[in-house]
Amino acid sequence: MTVAMESGARQARRRGGRTARERVLILDFGSQYTQLIARRVREAGVFSEIVPGTTSASEIAARDPSALILSGSPASGYRAEAPLPDAGIYALDKPLLGICYGFQVTAQLTGGQVAKAAAAEYGTATFVVDRPSPLFAGVPRRFRAWMSHGDEVQALGEGWVPVAHTANARFAAARHARRPFHLIQFHPEVVHSTYGKRVLQNFLFRIAGLKGGWSMKGFLEQAVADIRARVKQGHIVCGLSGGVDSTVVATLCHRAVGRRLQCVLVDHGLLRLGEAEEVARELGEKRRLQLTVVDARARFLDRLAGVSDPERKRRIIGAEFIAVFEEEARRHGPVEFLAQGTLYPDVIESASAGHGAQVIKTHHNVGGLPERMNLKLIEPLRLLFKDEVRALGRALGLPDHLVDRHPFPGPGLAVRTLGAVNAADLEILRKADAIFIEELRRSNWYHRTWQAFAVLLPVSTVGVKGDERSYERVIALRAVHSEDGMTADWTRLPASLLARASSRIANEVRGVNRVVYDCTSKPPATIEWE
Ligand code: XMP
Repeated sequence: MTVAMESGARQARRRGGRTARERVLILDFGSQYTQLIARRVREAGVFSEIVPGTTSASEIAARDPSALILSGSPASGYRAEAPLPDAGIYALDKPLLGICYGFQVTAQLTGGQVAKAAAAEYGTATFVVDRPSPLFAGVPRRFRAWMSHGDEVQALGEGWVPVAHTANARFAAARHARRPFHLIQFHPEVVHSTYGKRVLQNFLFRIAGLKGGWSMKGFLEQAVADIRARVKQGHIVCGLSGGVDSTVVATLCHRAVGRRLQCVLVDHGLLRLGEAEEVARELGEKRRLQLTVVDARARFLDRLAGVSDPERKRRIIGAEFIAVFEEEARRHGPVEFLAQGTLYPDVIESASAGHGAQVIKTHHNVGGLPERMNLKLIEPLRLLFKDEVRALGRALGLPDHLVDRHPFPGPGLAVRTLGAVNAADLEILRKADAIFIEELRRSNWYHRTWQAFAVLLPVSTVGVKGDERSYERVIALRAVHSEDGMTADWTRLPASLLARASSRIANEVRGVNRVVYDCTSKPPATIEWE
């Protein structure tokens, strides 16, 4: 077997490493780049986790991290409201890298001085390395680095050695003379920092002495072992929505416990064209997951009849979903565990000190169920980012068209037929949406856009079909670029693609005579129309 084909865990065993134990903790002080640091560390083959920057030293010690990274922050360390690390972390003697604010706050807490910079630096600057440091091994003396700071370190405490400067920053990097502590003013996690990757690797492998080798295959083996150890001879129930997250969770749990996993797909009639059938075919038939598809279409339509307020629609769907899921789960006998596709960004948002109290969407429709049914939660994706979930899906052998699917909201097409929902409108919307997606795939734009869909508007407009006047509905097309759905920009799709989609929808979908394209970003709009 070639090295390239070995799993991460096997590579590490061969190198004598223990990847399962290697873990970098990233102390988050609210920088917009914190998640990027976590990703870069994982890309380097070392598992990383983000914790609030103010986590106590004893809690950090209890997690036994291999190394610590202190993130940047919009705050100023010398202001009263600034989030400060517990000074005790410097006594843990763990290899430590302070980035931007992480640099400044460390300097400040260890005898140095920080103040507002005479000249703030935003954007790339030339970084000049003045003294040797293992952090800059293999990096040229001068390189372009991404800076984003309005404060600066003006003096270093006893034991610190200045290592680099820029035109505007006298101290742009420092290292401790006796301890494995390194500080940098620039952001190595940002692609604009030309040697950023190398600097992070130097920290992980030269300074912290880690072995690396963490990979999705290694993660997969570990996740399967963890689920088996937790569930023992118990049973798991898992809601399948057709989306990437639940598909990956179900496949992973199936690998761990086989037929002691029961999947439930609630067909509420608000899914995309052919979606329930596709999931049943791919997971039920091909992979032999134990799957029940509950046809609850009539029941949902009934409850939604005449309701046009978006939030009421959402609440009805959520409550009905729980009711159907609960009935079905109980029918399958005693079940102790509920598997859910919670992702890392959801976990971080609720835990992070720096981000303040952001409202997270209750993106899982089974919320409230664990307590009611006395179920224990299994969340095997809770430490992964969306693209890592996709990589895990591939490692599990799931086909690309399932793994690369655009996100789809829990309330489904109900929030895309504006106003009251009915079966005829859903039919129109499903057809229009399928044509748009087909055209995106044909022109290779499906993967170049983060999310795309059709919306059926509750208005009719005048048109002419053949020689006849028509008075039919309007379809709006929406395609957006986004990182995480929190903000988004509309995708500049080629006019020729829009022309094809528009012409096909207006001609092939009965009841539609006009197609418009939504060119609004979020904010001020949201991605969905309701
Ligand atoms: P908005 O419309 O808030 O959407 O800009 C951001 C992302 O979240 C999805 N979305 C939902 N997902 N339940 C979900 O599971 C919901 O109620 C819901 N509303 C919006 C939306 O599709 C987009 O990806």
